[in-house]
Amino acid sequence: MEDTIRFEQVKKVYRMGEYDIEALAGVDFTIKKGQFVIIAGASGAGKSTILNILGGMDTLTSGKVVVYGKDLSTFSQKEMVAYRRYDVGFVFQFYNLVQNLTAKENIELASQIGHNPLNVDEVIEGVGLSDRKKNFPSQLSGGEQQRVAIARALAKNPKLLLCDEPTGALDYETGRSILKLLQETCKEREITVVVITHNLALIPMGDQVIKVKSGLVDSIMENEHPVGIERIEW
Ligand SMILES: Nc1ncnc2c1ncn2[C@@H]1O[C@H](COP(=O)(O)OP(=O)(O)OP(=O)(O)O)[C@@H](O)[C@H]1O
Ligand SMILES: [Mg+2]
Repeated sequence: MEDTIRFEQVKKVYRMGEYDIEALAGVDFTIKKGQFVIIAGASGAGKSTILNILGGMDTLTSGKVVVYGKDLSTFSQKEMVAYRRYDVGFVFQFYNLVQNLTAKENIELASQIGHNPLNVDEVIEGVGLSDRKKNFPSQLSGGEQQRVAIARALAKNPKLLLCDEPTGALDYETGRSILKLLQETCKEREITVVVITHNLALIPMGDQVIKVKSGLVDSIMENEHPVGIERIEW
């Protein structure tokens, strides 16, 4: 049990003036260490809310989130900061790079706050950007910027890589190459990767696929033999 992530009856209610919006209505799932997990579902289903709670960027209203043996809701503010800093890497749809720092400097920025960061040049090589590291984000394509964002998340050597629609802004081929990178990262580094997507064609890729609907888990599917992205077309 120590090496799993567990959501137990997680609810999240946003209070909007006089209204309550129930973003999560009692979500249960378990993720094993090193799994490549896909969270799918319609817009507004609650996918980002799940990821933000898991990443320590949002709090839950009720229920329990257990991450590697620790109950997130019992964390002090200091423990939460440490969790976000050391354990979680985040990748967003629109990269969120610092525009006046080069690719390498963006990655260094994150590695400097890590406990045992990886070698920045090696991480850059791993995402295939060795010859672009002196470029500023505005001098990089969308796919390259997302590679920098992934390298930045990986450089601090996180336990958990959380990706909210990482290919949402990319064209077909570039999106595929980013998914390939994420899948390889998961397998080679044995880090747990959670990817949110609208694209149901990606389902065969996941070790586990969690479909979310109206704030609830609609279905959970485990693939015993997940396939590589090169065998998926859409
Ligand atoms: N900070 C917030 N304040 C109020 N309501 C919110 C907030 N964040 C999310 N919600 C609401 O909670 C519900 C779930 O939102 P969430 O962002 O998790 O959906 P999603 O599945 O990620 O959708 P999308 O695919 O469009 O990104 C939505 O109805 C949304 O409007
Ligand atoms: Mg979202």
